[in-house]
Amino acid sequence: MKKQVLTGIKPTGRIHLGNYIGAIKPALQLAENQSYNTAYFVADYHGLTKIHNPIEMKELSYGVAAAWLALGLNPDSATFYRQSDVPEIFELSWILSCFAPKGLLNRAHAYKSLVEENQNGGKEVDSGVNMGVFTYPILMAADILLFQTELVPVGKDQIQHVEIARDIAESFNKQYGETFVLPEYVIQEETSVLPGLDGRKMSKSYNNTIPLFEEPNKLRKLINKIKTDSSSPEEPKNPDASVIFALYKEFASSDQSEEMRRRFQQGIGWGEAKKELFNVMNSFLEVPRLNYEELMTNRDRLDAILLNGAIKARKKTIPFMKEIKRKIGMYH
Ligand code: TRP
Repeated sequence: MKKQVLTGIKPTGRIHLGNYIGAIKPALQLAENQSYNTAYFVADYHGLTKIHNPIEMKELSYGVAAAWLALGLNPDSATFYRQSDVPEIFELSWILSCFAPKGLLNRAHAYKSLVEENQNGGKEVDSGVNMGVFTYPILMAADILLFQTELVPVGKDQIQHVEIARDIAESFNKQYGETFVLPEYVIQEETSVLPGLDGRKMSKSYNNTIPLFEEPNKLRKLINKIKTDSSSPEEPKNPDASVIFALYKEFASSDQSEEMRRRFQQGIGWGEAKKELFNVMNSFLEVPRLNYEELMTNRDRLDAILLNGAIKARKKTIPFMKEIKRKIGMYH
């Protein structure tokens, strides 16, 4: 039996470098490996916890789909769909919520940090928190468990969510017998937290991201904004403590990376290092950027690919959902 791999990206902003390095790149590497079944999706219902403007929702969802495809996802070998096209996920989400201890969700990072923010601001603890934010980990557990997922490639900030999915699966299995596979997360250790322009974690919420498909001139400007120290060009620099080198490595060949490592150690001006980073990124992104732009002007094609993916996904989820309902006493 092939191992099942699954990951999703929520459409709450334009695809940025952190999405690419943390989730898309490792997921695409796994997709090339014949010993895995891969399911990749646009987590639009997760996006709904934040995005309440229909035009924005549509644009961002197509943007996530086009990014996956532009970067090389082959929808014939992977199962590639929009979460909202697979209604079994929501049926399962309710069932799982009846097995998710509320205390466990009170401790989920995303919710907890909103509560802390409110407390620090002297507001009511749940001010501005919708139930979608609170039950977010349950919907994510349904995404994962419905596909009998073994491996979930995600960024470090999602580890707790995968652990919650595991906990819920275990308590269901204990009650009704072996039903769900227990998932594990896969993180890219080296770059698990990618720093953004200001040195903090690259995140849409900090507004410090580098959008992946930015046009070359803007990309160059953003790279020039990356924070560096005030050391002079001749001073040796530690490549492993530099955002610029961390990003360079992701787009360069191993020979190029070794050469750049040497140049850092010998002393390289930050301006020069940024120029080299731009060159290597831009040449990698040239073709995907064109693919992306073409796909974004061809919505019918994106819809057709996504709907096809949903049909493929539901060949598994419909029968599995029946089995689950039978176990809890809802079918003969
Ligand atoms: N919560 C994930 C994120 O913000 C996105 C996501 C939704 C996901 N469902 C998933 C990731 C299932 C992996 C598996 O990045």
